[in-house]
Amino acid sequence: MLDTIYLKDYAPPAWLIDKLDLHVAIHEEYTEVRGMLACRRNPAGPGGELVLDGEELALQELSLGGTALVDSDYTLDDDTLCIRAVRGAALPDHFTLETRVRIDPDSNTQLSGLYRSRDGYFSQCEAQGFRRISFFPDRPDIMARFSCTIEAERQDFPQLLSNGNLVASGTLGNTRHWARWEDPYAKPCYLFALVAAKLDMLEDSFVTRSGRVVRLAVYVEPGKLDQCGHAMSALKKSMSWDEQRFGLEMDLDHYMIVAVGDFNMGAMENKGLNIFNTKYVLARPDTATDSDYQNIDRVIAHEYFHNWTGNRVTCRDWFQLSLKEGLTVFRDQEFSADTHSSAVTRIQSVRQLRIAQFPEDAGPMAHPIRPVSYAEINNFYTATVYEKGAEVVRMIHTLIGRDAFRHGMDLYFQRHDGQAVTCEDFVAAMQDASGLDLSQFRRWYSRAGTPHLKAEGCYDAAVQRYTLTLSQSLAPTAYEQRLQDAGLAIEEGPLHIPVALGLVLPDGSDALEREYPAGTCVLSLTESTQRFVFDHIPAEPVASVLRGFSAPVHLDFPQSDAELAHLMAYDSDACNRWEAGQRLASRVLLAGVAAGGQDTAWIPESFVAAVDRVLDDGMRHDAALAAEALILPAEQVLAEEMAGRGQIIDPEAIHRSRLTLRHHLAARLRDKFEAAWQALAPSSPYAPDGLQVGRRALRNLALGYLAESDEAYLKGHVMPRLMAQCNADNMTDVIAALGTLANLDVAERTTALADFYTRWQDEALVVDKWLQVQATSRLPGTAMRVRALMGHGAFDIKNPNKVYALVRAFCAANPRHFHGADGEGYRLAADVILQLQAMNPQVAARIARAFDRWRQFDSERQSHARTQLERIQGSTNLARDVAEVVGNALG
Ligand code: ARG
Ligand code: ZN
Repeated sequence: MLDTIYLKDYAPPAWLIDKLDLHVAIHEEYTEVRGMLACRRNPAGPGGELVLDGEELALQELSLGGTALVDSDYTLDDDTLCIRAVRGAALPDHFTLETRVRIDPDSNTQLSGLYRSRDGYFSQCEAQGFRRISFFPDRPDIMARFSCTIEAERQDFPQLLSNGNLVASGTLGNTRHWARWEDPYAKPCYLFALVAAKLDMLEDSFVTRSGRVVRLAVYVEPGKLDQCGHAMSALKKSMSWDEQRFGLEMDLDHYMIVAVGDFNMGAMENKGLNIFNTKYVLARPDTATDSDYQNIDRVIAHEYFHNWTGNRVTCRDWFQLSLKEGLTVFRDQEFSADTHSSAVTRIQSVRQLRIAQFPEDAGPMAHPIRPVSYAEINNFYTATVYEKGAEVVRMIHTLIGRDAFRHGMDLYFQRHDGQAVTCEDFVAAMQDASGLDLSQFRRWYSRAGTPHLKAEGCYDAAVQRYTLTLSQSLAPTAYEQRLQDAGLAIEEGPLHIPVALGLVLPDGSDALEREYPAGTCVLSLTESTQRFVFDHIPAEPVASVLRGFSAPVHLDFPQSDAELAHLMAYDSDACNRWEAGQRLASRVLLAGVAAGGQDTAWIPESFVAAVDRVLDDGMRHDAALAAEALILPAEQVLAEEMAGRGQIIDPEAIHRSRLTLRHHLAARLRDKFEAAWQALAPSSPYAPDGLQVGRRALRNLALGYLAESDEAYLKGHVMPRLMAQCNADNMTDVIAALGTLANLDVAERTTALADFYTRWQDEALVVDKWLQVQATSRLPGTAMRVRALMGHGAFDIKNPNKVYALVRAFCAANPRHFHGADGEGYRLAADVILQLQAMNPQVAARIARAFDRWRQFDSERQSHARTQLERIQGSTNLARDVAEVVGNALG
């Protein structure tokens, strides 16, 4: 059985560590780590022994205040070291503990703790990697001042980096050197970082608004300096933005970003020494796409913003993870909205929430943004904790308004700077700063599942009154079942839901324009059912509910096609214009699913007309918004809609329906797509700026539709363009063409893929794209090709980016083939999970999440999935990470 950790069992630590002085000596055969821990009995603690975490540490020496401890003074097992006494005597209230251990970073394939990557040694400590470096109470409420001396071969590892300031350095003998770093701020050990590597560096500086000069440095693999300019400018933009929007300044003299090709996640906010997946640093027009550029901006900002929301104020325990992650995602979303297009940013966040978080909330891993139990914390770095967490923060922002929110942030820092706190502390600051009672709102922190919001409108022309009735419901999820099994209390009662509402009149204007800014009023839904009345509405309006997607809910609002078309055309809220289009498209596509995806009788003429209008609009006004509007709802989103209606998910029918609609639109609107393709041709050299990004998005979308044309047109008119575009000067256009070709059963596909590989085989991140377009191909036989690619020299199961690009892309972004009726997709996933789980349990567990929705499919598929899940579960020495995910899936 898996051990479960419960929030209710939280107790303050018995001992505090005020200082940790580390000495890390890297040798070819092993690394030796010495730790000097300044320990102090916690006056507010429960008393008892000093418990230190340690994993895969070979203990060499242990002494207390200079006295070597004897066997009876401590106990040591696989994951803890308990110090009880010093030579039989009771522990004093203050002492220094000295530890010396050996670790083997070269054989650390988990990429947690200290590990070897091509250019040197790198660390990743969140959540529990520090215990793989040195004995320490590895919990975020222990905040210590760190100093770190690193020693290594000078030639191979010229850069020796850690948190804070470089205070001394020197040489040792002929070939070795050392550097000593001190971090002036106390921090939890998950924010510790160490790098010993041979890297190139781009240097710059930033002057904060109070005049502090901060040295900025981006370290990358040798030879890649031409790919780090964008990251550096993103960092400077983030620094100014946080000063302007939140009054938050950088607090250190150095801010370093190190890029590494082997990394489990996106990036890590270690104090003053962020470590990044290369994917979120390196970019050049010919190697990175527009969305890569945007993601770099977002992730650089995210990690930088953590310096305040995460580092200066951190989490008391890991159940509070959303305290820093939800808030920091909210902040990076706001940054993106302010620096790119706010409407496009919001639309993309909402799409992502629907693709990743809603299914999570409906599946066996469902949990609230603040869970109350876990077996493996690494399994809870989820779309719920991050993205839904950000939605919850956004709802507070919506309810109390931008100014009060800012006061709430100020108050939060005034009260908690330098502390490890809880989600409750954050909400309390927001409540106190705004005066709004958030007690009911707090339920969002402890409820799993996506609520349903039902709306019903009624217009009384005689008295010019519009009445909107809103009701909410939230069915129990797998999470409530787990609570019940553990004998834990289940929260009940309605949520506090902000519903942003506009009333759009027949002429397209906003009925509420005079009373409310932007014609949008924010309703507070606090009851199960509530009625809202609006007087002086001159004509029957079309309600625009949940403007800006003001709450993460499913909206059940039976609006007619004509009403949705009206919103698509006139809603002053761009997000809801897009949403109306998505609702209309879902409706059409699900009708297609019901019709078996055959013929085209289910495609209403009005839908073709709506797409036509959006295209027109896009060419004249906002190309980026038009491109968003023309992306049909994802197969995963349609699948969830079916599941939500109690239907069995039919991945084949969903795929067919979507494809038929694309073919139909391509045939009916070919001239329009051609016109868009011509009109949006590039007129200036590549730059990843908003205007160009939008034009490229719409132009490539048009090209994608043109590629759905009949064979003659495809061969005669589209193929030459696709092949030419494979040699474009920017990766956005290249990958759009290559991705389209990868879906087509034509000889050119093979040529284009081979040429691309030949050209880019030495550029790891570009090879990832090559793997990904093949993994997400809709052609038959894709599962087999993915398997074959796993044997290709380009693939490396030890590298998370490769696994994500090939295997996770296949499992998570190619639903039709992953859920193939023959069960081959499931077998492939299980094979990878079994091969990977001992090597890198975190990555294996992320792949295992692909099985989340297995019970929503037909019995044939269910039986294939069950076979694979049971095969995984039955394997010996299964990693806790995978065991938790698979255990929940099998329930
Ligand atoms: N705190 C990092 C971020 O959000 C993510 C670290 C995740 N680490 C992990 N082992 N799950 O930027
Ligand atoms: Zn984060």
